[in-house]
Amino acid sequence: MTDTLTITRPDDWHLHLRDGDVLKDIVPHTARRFARAIVMPNLKPPVTTTAMAMEYRQRILDAVPENQAFQPLMTLYLTESTSADEIRAAKASGAVKAVKYYPAGATTNSESGVSDLSRVYPLLEVMAEQQLPLLVHGEVVDSRVDVFDREAVFIERELLPLLRAIPGLKVVFEHITTRDAVQLVMETPDNLGATITPQHLLMNRNAIFKGGINPHHYCLPVLKREEHRQALVQAATSGDPRFFLGTDSAPHARHAKESDCGCAGMYSAHAAIEFYAQAFDEAGSLDKLEAFAAFHGADFYALPRNSAQITLVRESWKVQETLRFGDDELVPMGAGEMLPWKLV
Ligand code: NCD
Ligand code: ZN
Repeated sequence: MTDTLTITRPDDWHLHLRDGDVLKDIVPHTARRFARAIVMPNLKPPVTTTAMAMEYRQRILDAVPENQAFQPLMTLYLTESTSADEIRAAKASGAVKAVKYYPAGATTNSESGVSDLSRVYPLLEVMAEQQLPLLVHGEVVDSRVDVFDREAVFIERELLPLLRAIPGLKVVFEHITTRDAVQLVMETPDNLGATITPQHLLMNRNAIFKGGINPHHYCLPVLKREEHRQALVQAATSGDPRFFLGTDSAPHARHAKESDCGCAGMYSAHAAIEFYAQAFDEAGSLDKLEAFAAFHGADFYALPRNSAQITLVRESWKVQETLRFGDDELVPMGAGEMLPWKLV
């Protein structure tokens, strides 16, 4: 049995950091574990221009502890009025690495998203030409579609038509949660990748209702059936380079989750690589963790792989019940529970 695991320092290809005062509480968790992270643009107001992304990037860098080297990779929030010039400026900046598509109304702070993707196809052509990936929140927004089916329906209604219309576009199907999404990625050429979160590897939808309703296990896309969790574990541990690490760590104040209309989002940055180690270990595939966490994403984004390393040991430790979140607190994933893997 492996008790010590040294791997190349990983990257997080899908992360929410928020903004302002809370950055100093949030950024260090990721910076301690990861060399780089793709930072989501769903702030209020959303990060829609390269100028905004550059300023946000500096505020994040200001929150990185002195002894840590962490590089935020920025994204733009796609709207129906994003211009081709903005896309070219984003690419030219070198700091913006992708553009995020939120179907309008699909999730937290997605009001300014796109309501009909085909309307922005001309812009996506420019992204293909610039080799700037499109990151998709893959859920339809349709009250007639069951919340557990929204990802599968998105594949049919939006993703397949997009992949056919613009075959040269690099697309990341973010935080996949279903067997259907795994199959699609495996059947599609290399221009389609997918990120997988720790919560979707470790939990099924029972976690939302275990012993009573648990708002801290509510995220979007929502946790799915056990058979889907198993398909995700298989994909993540398969060694297939199209699947890579993206935590979707999404902090919300405790009161915003424990509310009569609780926000979607789980916070995992405080123990992200530890959770993935646990999931890979449970699958008997610790040897596949390094490539999933440190190689596949960098290769997909055509960025150099990291050279530094991190070490994890099999030593149980207890997750804090709450963490600081500016003037508030948040309840992290695994709060109060023992985790089997510890970062040295
Ligand atoms: C994210 C957030 O809170 O910003 N929430 C979530 O449940 N994942 C938004 C998102 O990525 O969907
Ligand atoms: Zn997200």
